[in-house]
Parts: sequence; structure tokens; C-alpha cells
Amino acid sequence: MSDQPLIIVSNRGPAQFDRGPDGERTIGRGGGGLVTALSGLASHRRVLWIASAMSEEDTIVSEEAGGPVEVELGGIKYDVEMVTSNPEAYDLFYNVIANPHLWFIQHYLWDLSNAPDIRAEEKEAWERGYRVVNEDIAGCVINRIKDQEEPLVMLHDYHLYTAPALIRAERPDAFLHHFVHIPWPHADAWRVIPNRWREQIFKGLLANDIIGFHLPSYVHNFLDCCRELIGAEVDYVKDTVTFEGHETWIRAYPLGVDSARLRRVAESSAIVNYERELLFRRRQHLIIRVDRADLSKNILRGFTAFDQFLSEHPEFHERVTFIAHLQPSRQDVPEYQEYLERIEALVAVVNHRHGTTDWMPIDLRIYDNFHEAVARYKHFDLLIVNALFDGMNLVAKEAPAVNTRDGVLMLSENTGSHVELGEAALTVNPFDIDEQAEAIHRALTMEPEERKARADRLREIIDSTDPGTWIDGQLSDIEAKRAGRPAEPTPAR
Ligand code: F6P
Repeated sequence: MSDQPLIIVSNRGPAQFDRGPDGERTIGRGGGGLVTALSGLASHRRVLWIASAMSEEDTIVSEEAGGPVEVELGGIKYDVEMVTSNPEAYDLFYNVIANPHLWFIQHYLWDLSNAPDIRAEEKEAWERGYRVVNEDIAGCVINRIKDQEEPLVMLHDYHLYTAPALIRAERPDAFLHHFVHIPWPHADAWRVIPNRWREQIFKGLLANDIIGFHLPSYVHNFLDCCRELIGAEVDYVKDTVTFEGHETWIRAYPLGVDSARLRRVAESSAIVNYERELLFRRRQHLIIRVDRADLSKNILRGFTAFDQFLSEHPEFHERVTFIAHLQPSRQDVPEYQEYLERIEALVAVVNHRHGTTDWMPIDLRIYDNFHEAVARYKHFDLLIVNALFDGMNLVAKEAPAVNTRDGVLMLSENTGSHVELGEAALTVNPFDIDEQAEAIHRALTMEPEERKARADRLREIIDSTDPGTWIDGQLSDIEAKRAGRPAEPTPAR
């Protein structure tokens, strides 16, 4: 059994194939924290990673292979199986249900007096999109584990809430583990969607043996939801839910970053040119943010706070630059397109209001370039992470891990990473623009001793865990549950 590959399942896989300008096949690393977190696991164990085909080229590659393909990225080899769904179903799944509906609910993003309107179209997207893609993925998993005894399947995130029940129906002996990388909100947030969707989501999830979240507070919210929304039996001491005779453990596993690997990248030749350009152009103070261009990241309020700071402190004019490095995201979802347009418009206003012929206060860069981001991580004086709500936020851990200037972290109290890093960060309420403007000023005028003490403490906390700790915690609970040991409560944080 030990030689059986562990099955990882997620919508976005570790690699994406495309065609370059000359028609040659290119391979890029899948973005986001999920891929970063799981890459370490794939380097230590035999893993088969099942994911959606997200580009036409992914589909061609998987058709050519007729099954899993071996890919090597960043020195790690992966066996990846890319599942192609009907394109229309996939569009409904990704662009109508997963993002925005589920993503918006779980980050409290809906402006409820206006949206969402759930009509026949959205209901069809649920039936013919979300459920279909989950069936496709579950079908692939069932096929791949058919010769395995008591297989271990680790599913990830909000894209795959209905798949576990489909796998369970075929394989009662499988161990199903599901990690949700985003916040789990209060029960009322879920009352936005039709009862039928809710029931299918909870039935799907509760077919798992263990469900993991980043924080104990998300565990607590999930338990409340199970009790309030579907009347499941909930044990708040052991953190378990029993539904239709099946017990699921609900656990918290905060994800850390691989500081050692990041420091190797930060010292590598790959970033030298980016660093040179940055140092050549920088002013006395450098503020950065690095985010997907996502509504939950609260990018507009960050710029408004910077605008206010510049108005209140003209002595900083020409002495500070704010580089906003944003990776384009989910551009087929109208809310995301509109958000990016609003970002560009606001940057133009702020730059016009305060800029001069040779000073542009906000330098907006909309593209994805990991090495350039690391060069910026190394040299910031202030890192802004002001997300409205965020499951963890790994930028808040990655950037201070490699920073060389005792940079200050401004951190939203509603991010998962605030639980660990709050004591060494400048905490802000993400809705309070005054407070953020003040925090910018405080960071840029902070005494060197205080900056150093905070930066040292941040590094100490960040270095105390890594993705290995996160995985080990999950594997040890899997072993315990498999061995029939009783559930233990999630340690309080
Ligand atoms: O945080 C949730 C997540 O699914 C992560 O895996 C990743 O960081 C991000 O969202 C990427 O989103 P998408 O796959 O839609 O680009």
C-alpha cells in the first residue's frame, strides 16, 4: 500500500501548458499558494496530481499522453493528469459559480442589496457547470484509484465541494481529506445561495474524513454552519461533525512558507537584473504590494490611503514610490474586469494629483513575474497587505522572510496570517482608510531600532514553520483517524 501514489486533486494544477509567440509549447508553473504549498509534498512522496485542464494546450497534451504526464518544474517532478471538461461547463463552473459565487460568499464580497441575483441562468450554471466539472474530476479520481487498496485522496479548495460525495459513493474504503485554502464564513453568509446548492455543498464536504482550514476560527464557523444549516450533529470539544452516520474531523493547519527556498531565490542570478533596475529607480522610501488583482485584496482602499498620506504629508513628495505588482486574475468574470479598470483609473487620479514631471507616486505593474516580485520583497521599506478577508495570505510571510531593509509589514486584521504575525506587524482594519494612511506614515518614520525589532520578530515567527509542518500535521491526523484513534480538539491560537 505504501507504494501507492498519494492522489492530490485541485482545480489548478502545478503546471500549465500554452503556446509561445513562435508556436512552440511552453510550460508555466500554476500560480497561487495552493501549488506552492503542495510542491514540497510532491518532492518527497509518490504523488499523482489530478487537476483541470485550464488551457487548450493542457487538453492537447493530456490527449497526446492519454493519461498522466510527467512534468518537471523548479527541480520537482510531478505526475499530472489534466481533466478536460466540456468548455461551456467549465466556463459556468469557474466563471459563474466558483468565482464569483463561492469566492464572494467566502470573502464576504457581495454587496447584498444589489447582488447576487440568482435566476435560471445561475441555477443552470450550478447544474450544468459546477456539478459537471466535479463529476468529471471525481470520475478521474475513481478511475485512478481503482486498483488501490484504501487509497488516500487529498482534495483542495472551493472548486471541488461536491466531488468527495461522488468518490465516497464508489469507494467507501478511501480516505478523503479536503483542505479549504480560503476563509470559512459565518452561517448567514451561506444563506445567500439556494438551499439545494447548500445541501449539496455540505453533503459533498461531509463525505470527507477530515476537512482542514488555516485557522481555528474557520473550523468554528464550519461547525456552526453544519449545525445551523443542515442540522448535523456537532461536537465542539473534539471538533467533529457526524452526518448520515459518517464522522468528519474538522481541523486547523496554518500554512507556512519555505523561507530557505525563498532565500536561495533571493540570492540567485535570476533576480539580479530586476534588483539592479529597482535600486537604480528607487527613491528614499519604497512601498510595495504584491497581489492577484482580486477584489478581496482591497487594492483600491490601499491607494486611497496612500493618496490621503501624500495629501497630509507633502514632505514625502518625491521621496517615496509605491510599486503595486498585481497579477491579472479571472478576467472572464465581469466583477474582476471592472475591478482592474477601477484600479487603473484610481492610480491615474492619484498620480495626476501628486505626481511631477519626474516622479510618479504609484508605479502600477500588471503582470505575473515571480523573480521580479522577489527582487521587490528584498528591498521594501513598507509592505502593504490590507486584504478585506484572506484565508492566510502568503505574501505577508514570503516578503519579510527575504527583506534586507528591516521593512515594516502593514497587515489587515482579517487575514489568516495576522493570527501569527500580528504582534510584529502594524495592524490595520482594512476598511479604515484613515488608519491605513496613518500606518503608512508611522512605518516610514519609525525609528530604526523599532523597525529592526519588528522585522527580526517577523522572521523568527515565519521561520518557525514551513509547508512541511503543514503537511505533517495533516498526515499525522490521517494516520490517527485511520488507526481509529479518537479526535483531539484543534489547539487554540
Ligand atoms: O487561495 C485560493 C486559490 O485557489 C489558490 O489556490 C490560489 O492562490 C488562488 O486561489 C488562485 O486562483 P485561480 O486558480 O482562480 O487563479
